[in-house]
Order: sequence, then structure tokens, then C-alpha cells
Amino acid sequence: MKITIVGTGYVGLVTGTCFSEVGIDVTCVDIDQKKIDGLKEGIMPIYEPGLETMVLRNVEKGRLHFSTSLKDSIQGSEAVFIAVGTPPGEDGSADLKYVLAVADEVGQHMNDYIVVVTKSTVPVGTARKVKNTVNKALEKRKSELAFDVASNPEFLKEGAAIQDFLKPDRIVVGVETDRAKKIMEKLYKPFLLNGHPTIFMDVPSAEMTKYAANSMLATKISFMNDIANLCEIMGADVNMVRRGIGSDSRIGTKFIYPGVGYGGSCFPKDVKALIKTAEENGYPMRVLKSVEDVNEHQKSVLVNKVKKHFGDNLTGMTFAVWGLSFKPKTDDMREAPSIVIINQLIELGAEIKAFDPVAMEEAKRDLHDTITYCKDEYEALVDADALLLVTEWPEFRVPNFTVVSKLLKNKVIFDGRNIYDPAEVKELGYVYYGIGLSQ
Ligand code: UGA
Repeated sequence: MKITIVGTGYVGLVTGTCFSEVGIDVTCVDIDQKKIDGLKEGIMPIYEPGLETMVLRNVEKGRLHFSTSLKDSIQGSEAVFIAVGTPPGEDGSADLKYVLAVADEVGQHMNDYIVVVTKSTVPVGTARKVKNTVNKALEKRKSELAFDVASNPEFLKEGAAIQDFLKPDRIVVGVETDRAKKIMEKLYKPFLLNGHPTIFMDVPSAEMTKYAANSMLATKISFMNDIANLCEIMGADVNMVRRGIGSDSRIGTKFIYPGVGYGGSCFPKDVKALIKTAEENGYPMRVLKSVEDVNEHQKSVLVNKVKKHFGDNLTGMTFAVWGLSFKPKTDDMREAPSIVIINQLIELGAEIKAFDPVAMEEAKRDLHDTITYCKDEYEALVDADALLLVTEWPEFRVPNFTVVSKLLKNKVIFDGRNIYDPAEVKELGYVYYGIGLSQ
């Protein structure tokens, strides 16, 4: 079986590589020649645990190829996945120009029946636009070739994408015909050995499922952040409350960890896009507007604690920041709360010494030379007035507190992810601030 994946970003590359892993012949296409050349030499454009090894293995086996020519790769492909970027326009809605450009090219060059699958996160109604675009291109060449469109949203988490793909909770596919359904079934069969289902549905429902899933998860987080802030006021401990409610299986233990707000390339963008789509169709998404509002507020809670402890003027003070990426195990800095936190501290006159295990290069694009980039987490502490834990990388979980105490000027920790045991660090003589904890 042969397929083509267009777009070698995070979604396209992981998807293509994982399909090749089970023996499917995959060509990943991108217009960026440099990226394709790099991939052919095993240079990954993104950091994702396990990806590099898997790419190299499948290239060597001759079933994963990289190319800049959709025209060539599409010949003999049973499906073409569109996984190109959909950057948010100024009004928050997804810009579909790259998706539709691929659809047009597919129409120009296909030579047999093919399923055109949208994998990028696209608004409800996009598959219809893709269909029209392919049809127009076929009409231009006076071709009567048959094709189908399908919507196949992805639910991969950065940092765990390979495992998520290989062992999915579920696969959602929107189709219009049995012929397309059969091809999609065949493609995903190798990944469903753990008994989890492929859920087939109509195309608009599949498109909506993606937004509803991310929006629901973002809602859980914002709700918990709101509860955490209230816990502080009321003298309750959100860690206890979280465990208390999470043990109800209807609520569940996942995605109820309070913190410094959600970031990344998905939640902020998708929540905004769904609010926008609803608005355009005359319906106000009241809950989601609040989810966004709480998230914006949450990015300030750590700095508010710093101000409460040290005062509003931080001139002459230095803060160590551990973790810059929007979450652990990724170098992704998109919408990372660390950017907001650091800029707020700088605004108040502070200097920042930061360390992140993999996101330092990416961070330089946003933070430039406004901060000092340190070689490890301990160097960041030298002469710092306090430590701010912003991203919960595993290597920050059990630091050598004897060394930490020697390096820090003041034994003060602002823990934006509640990874330390308050009793333990207080016992060591620290002033400790978490999120949603009674002081
Ligand atoms: C998210 C979804 O989890 C994936 O299912 C989806 O496929 C993906 O978006 C996408 O649309 O492509 P991702 O953005 O990689 O995945 O990251 P998550 O692990 O979901 O974390 C998102 C943010 O929520 C992070 O900033 C994280 O720190 C925050 N978070 C998560 C919390 O603050 N608390 C929690 O309990 C969980």
C-alpha cells in the first residue's frame, strides 16, 4: 500500500513515519527543499522523542521517502494526507491557503482514484472546500477521475506523539463513501491491536470532534486553574481537591493539574478558532470565552506571587527560571507561558537567568538577548534571588537542594507546576509558593 503525506511539520512527519513503521510505503512531501534535504540526511526539523531513530530505520528499509514533488509521489498513492500549516489569521480564524493549494495540486496531478484526507486541524466545512478545489482542478484538465475526501483529525500530544500514534485511544475518520472508508480502515488496522476503535462518522462531525476535544481539555485546565486560585483564597489545598474529584471516574484524573496556563500550538489556537467559527454562525461560545479569559489571567499568577513577596519594583533582582518550553519533552515555544512570565518580570526591572533542557534555541527567537541562557539548571541559580519553576521537566523534579541552597541568594521557590512537596521544601528552610495551595 502506498500513500503520500504533504507537509513535514510535526503532524505530517510523525504520521508519515508511523505509517511507514507498519510497512506502508510512504512519501513525505514538502515544498521546503532544505527541510527535505535535511530529512534525507536524518536531520529532524523538530524535537520529538523516538522520531529520529524511527525515521532513519524506515528510510533504510526503503519504505519512507522524502520529496519536494507531489506530482511524482501521488502516482499510485491510495490516499494523500494534507498536513500543512493552518496559521491563524489576524481574526483568529485558520488560514486555509496552504491546504487548498495542496488540494489544487492533487487535482492537477492525480492519475487514479485517491482519498484526499485532511489531517491538519481545519474548521468545519474545510473538506467541502477541498472537494470543490480538487473538482475545479480536474475540470480544468477535463478529467473525470473519481476521488473522495475524508477528515482524519489527529490527537497526538507533543513529546508523546509516537506512542499516541502507535497506540491510539481512538481514531476518528469522517467519510462520505464506503470506498474511502475501506481504504482508511486498511490503513489504520495495524494500530488497533489494543482493541480501541476507529470511529467512522460524517465529515463535518469529524472536523468538529477535533475542536470539541481540545476545547474540552482546555476547559478542564482553566476550570482547575480557577478552582486553584479560589483554593488559595479559601485556605484549601488544590492538590487534595484534585485527588478528591479525580477519583470520580466521570471526572477522571487527567488534565486537572493547575499551573501557569495552557500553551502550545493547539489549545490556544483551537479554542480561539472555535469561538470565531461559532461567532460567524451567530452563536456565542460562553464557556470557551471564559476558558480563554482564565488562561490569560493564569499566566500572571506566578509573577503576582513574586510581587507579593518582593514588591512591585524588581530592579537589581535576578530570577532563575527552570523550563521554557510550553510543556516538557518538547522544544516548542509556541504560546509558552514562560514568555509572558519572563517579559512581565523584565518589565518590573528584574534580570532573568534561564535553563531549558531542549528549548533554548527556540526560546531565543522569542526572548532574544533579553535573558541569560545558562548551561544547566544550577548555573541559572547562581546569585539569583529566587527560583521560578515554569515547565515540569523530569530532571527538575528531584534537584540537589543542598546545592540549590548554596547557589540561591534567598531560599524562595515559586513552583508554577506544583512539582515539589511543600512540606519537604519548607522543612529545608525554603519559602515555598505553589499554585492553589494554602500558605
Ligand atoms: C494537545 C492535545 O492534548 C492533543 O490530544 C492534540 O492532538 C494536540 O493538542 C493537537 O491539537 O495537536 P499538546 O498541545 O501537545 O496536545 O499538549 P498537551 O499535553 O495537551 O498540553 C497542553 C497544555 O496544557 C500545556 O501547556 C500543558 O502544560 C497544559 N496542561 C495540561 C495543564 O496546564 N494541566 C494539565 O493537567 C494538562
